Amino acid sequence: MADTLTFEDEAETPEQIPEQIPEQTMGAGCCGDTGESYDLAKPFKAEDKRLLNCKQVDVNQLMPLKYDWAWEHYLNGCANHWMPTEVPMQRDIELWRTDALTDAERQVILRNLGFFSTGESLVGNNIVLAIFKHITNSEARQYLLRQAFEEAIHTHTFHYIIESLGLDGREVFNMYHEVASIKGKDQFVMNLTSDVMDPNFSTESIEGMQKFIKNLIGFYVIMEGIFFYSGFVMILSFHRQNRMTGIGEQFQYILRDETIHLNFGIDLINTIKAENPEVWTSELQRDIYDLVNDAVEYEVLYARDCLPEGVLGLNETMFREYVQFIADRRLERIGLAGVYGSQNPFPWMGETIDIVKEKNFFETRVTDYQSGGALSWDE
Ligand SMILES: [Fe+2]
Ligand SMILES: [Fe+2]
Repeated sequence: MADTLTFEDEAETPEQIPEQIPEQTMGAGCCGDTGESYDLAKPFKAEDKRLLNCKQVDVNQLMPLKYDWAWEHYLNGCANHWMPTEVPMQRDIELWRTDALTDAERQVILRNLGFFSTGESLVGNNIVLAIFKHITNSEARQYLLRQAFEEAIHTHTFHYIIESLGLDGREVFNMYHEVASIKGKDQFVMNLTSDVMDPNFSTESIEGMQKFIKNLIGFYVIMEGIFFYSGFVMILSFHRQNRMTGIGEQFQYILRDETIHLNFGIDLINTIKAENPEVWTSELQRDIYDLVNDAVEYEVLYARDCLPEGVLGLNETMFREYVQFIADRRLERIGLAGVYGSQNPFPWMGETIDIVKEKNFFETRVTDYQSGGALSWDE
């Protein structure tokens, strides 16, 4: 009982509560710090908000909003709420137990479970441990909290799939240490996390902001925007053949969430750029091209490892084309010219994303949640 915390232990009466919220609760940094002290107890104007290095606005107050896009992404994420345990897995379990799947097909599924099961946690941990404290804006933080929860749901999904199929969870979750093609991708983004988690890291310098932008690009544009997409193609290819449809449906839910994560990340990066144009140097742009180029190579290696002899009509050459095609689209969205000029070998993915975005695809569950939240005493 010695460690039980009570309010008495805090020994803080209302009289002792400071009138001004201490600076350390506000997040790091200061907007163009002139040494001026700000009175955070006074109402602020929305236009005073900034995504990074803002000291003059109380980050504990959501309203007034400045970045409507952040709030919109938050509302869309909430409207899409789902749980992996709602998806029936019986057909997958039956198919997995038969010999109707080849070893090569099983390898595709296992590699993707291995990559995503820990990849989701890397994204969640990057948000909570690296990004969150440096974002000095309440509506962007509101979205990050929602996204972090969704990443927990995604990790839960892989635990649920592994349990359903009777796989060895230790083996699947440890693949990112043991399978070189997964380790390569994860190490690549983990390096960008450790840069921002360095105790001496700050976004107050141009160099710090550039490092922070590279982290955002590593996670939103590359991890969630490129590294996840080969896996989506592979697993949804089974789904298109009406096989492993439970996992396929889980991946469609994840793809729907990831589409919003990517869109938020792009808005975040572009707005930080607009607020701090001095950081967008030609050197930073070159570094981003290098990161994307390395990412494309890691992803092609991953595709080769997942399907060394081609499976489901898919092969390494198609994945090189596809990864280059989506890399160009991602570069364009952060204001950089595409470099590969590849065609999309999987045009059906575009249609899938459109279908996934439509609410009626998940109508029953969306309606269930929305009606649950809209109970009224009049009924
Ligand atoms: Fe995720
Ligand atoms: Fe995500």
